Amino acid sequence: MRKITLAIDGYSACGKSSTAKAVAAELGYTYIDSGAMYRAVTLYFQQNHVSLTNKKEVENALNKIDITFQNNKDKGTDTFLNGLNVEGEIRKMYISENVSQISALESVREAMVAQQRKLGKKSGVVMDGRDIGTVVFPDAELKIFMVADIYVRAGRRQKELMEKGQLVDLAEIISNLEKRDKIDSSRAVSPLRKADDAVEVDSSFLTLEEQVDHIVRLALGKI
Ligand code: C5P
Repeated sequence: MRKITLAIDGYSACGKSSTAKAVAAELGYTYIDSGAMYRAVTLYFQQNHVSLTNKKEVENALNKIDITFQNNKDKGTDTFLNGLNVEGEIRKMYISENVSQISALESVREAMVAQQRKLGKKSGVVMDGRDIGTVVFPDAELKIFMVADIYVRAGRRQKELMEKGQLVDLAEIISNLEKRDKIDSSRAVSPLRKADDAVEVDSSFLTLEEQVDHIVRLALGKI
């Protein structure tokens, strides 16, 4: 059977990652979380006090960053930064609070897009993010744009954080999601927007199974 490329974009915490992961598992495809890459860059910049206004410093830092993924059968995917497992660290609020400013930098985007294209060179890939259908894989056979009500999104994110032992106020999560959406949608380089040929999926009142089922059916229609 022919393999295709699936691009899943949308606002923060709309359920893109869980959906993309499950769709990839159903189809026997590789799942790539592009947001984890921007989060890992943010962690490196924070740890090394990289000045965002110093172009040279940013470029030097980018040359020292190696991001890899490792699949764990039942526990999902772990993200590694220069050989260290940073999966837990990159999901923390202090990373969420800084990631969109760093993701807006042109050199950061150039470096990440090049790596994402390499990772997704072979078809049979589901990648989620903000610019996958518009910039990274504009020729993807199936493009999904996910949206959801802000309260539903914040509630889901709060539950995820709670499961990892982090208690965060709902108002703080809503404020972070709105701030990130605004920066992601208004940045000069590859802003978050729905590709003209993307199918919109509103996940507010859908279960994960319903979202996955819907997208798998759309994918099977393209194969
Ligand atoms: O998907 P996630 O919410 O983990 O992404 C974290 C941040 O990374 C986003 O808010 C956005 O600023 C950035 N991002 C991006 N382009 C992508 C994926 C994520 O700019 N393709």
